[in-house]
Amino acid sequence: KKDTLIMSFESSCDETSVAIIKNGKEILSNIIATQIKSHQRFGGVVPEVASRHHVEEITRCIELAMDEAAVTYDDIDAVAVTYGPGLVGSLLIGIMAAKTVAFAHNLPLIKVNHLAGHIYSANFVTDLQYPFMALLVSGGHTELVLVTAPGEFHTLGDTRDDAVGEAYDKIGRVLGINYPAGKQVDQMAAVGNDVFNFPRAMVQEDNLDFSFSGLKSAFINRVHHADQVHEDLSKDDLAASFQGAVLDILSNKTFRALKQHPVSQLVVAGGVAANQGLRKRLKEEIEKRNMDMELVFPPLRLCGDNAAMIGAIAQIQYEKGDFADLSLNSDPSLDF
Ligand code: KG4
Ligand code: ZN
Repeated sequence: KKDTLIMSFESSCDETSVAIIKNGKEILSNIIATQIKSHQRFGGVVPEVASRHHVEEITRCIELAMDEAAVTYDDIDAVAVTYGPGLVGSLLIGIMAAKTVAFAHNLPLIKVNHLAGHIYSANFVTDLQYPFMALLVSGGHTELVLVTAPGEFHTLGDTRDDAVGEAYDKIGRVLGINYPAGKQVDQMAAVGNDVFNFPRAMVQEDNLDFSFSGLKSAFINRVHHADQVHEDLSKDDLAASFQGAVLDILSNKTFRALKQHPVSQLVVAGGVAANQGLRKRLKEEIEKRNMDMELVFPPLRLCGDNAAMIGAIAQIQYEKGDFADLSLNSDPSLDF
């Protein structure tokens, strides 16, 4: 059987990325142009700035991706692109580029859900076995998803308010950390102690939903109170206390879901899957419970936004003949 090469695009937020993926499994190239520096001084992603950067970067990313993979357009079998969720102006740049390549080279177009992409970043580290459970934790999403068959997603739990990465970024700002704050908060948490006893919202409730806004508010209030009375708090302890609450919540809901749906693989994906505390905690919980379950974390460079993961899920859609046409539009609030 002939190999399938997919050129994939990702531009939903502040990373411009183009990848060439072989059979959904092998990364021939995965170029990621990050814009973080341009957004840092604003404390978050500025949509207008993001789309302008995508326009500037995307052609260069295509060229680099093809050079690195040593391919020409004749080698490519299909073009895949993230069409949502994300920032409308950012999504449209990737969509426009993908359509242009598809039209110019007469290639089929595949529209990919960004969230599905994050989950399938696991496809590069293991052979996925269905059904499997996915804990999707990113700057925009916190979901427990049961994947019953290739490309078949069932959301079991979602966040009622803030996404977990968003909470990291907001409390990081209070600690004076640059956007995105997750990695640094994680590092501080490793040396601090969980002494503030922040609330663990909804862990007693028998559902699979998450809430992080109460935790975020409790954190901010504690810091403001300390400022008012000139109390000097340890930033490391604050970070450790925040992360302690986050890990309790994520772990509680994940194992609740696994009890309802026993599976042989747990995939953790999205930007927050880079969290070292989370990696350690889930591993310990599985050992403690003596569970015969594979814990799958994508490598760090595939946790954040990238086009390789888009190519992985696109391969499944390619095999199903699930193609889009050139009228494809973005869907900024797309879910499963
Ligand atoms: O998946 P992603 O790159 O973009 C979205 O689709 O949202 O996730 C970005 C998020 C940011 O909120 C960032 O602070 C968070 O992932 N993040 C982390 C860590 N590394 C990145 N959060 C916690 N711990 C980390 N080590
Ligand atoms: Zn993402």
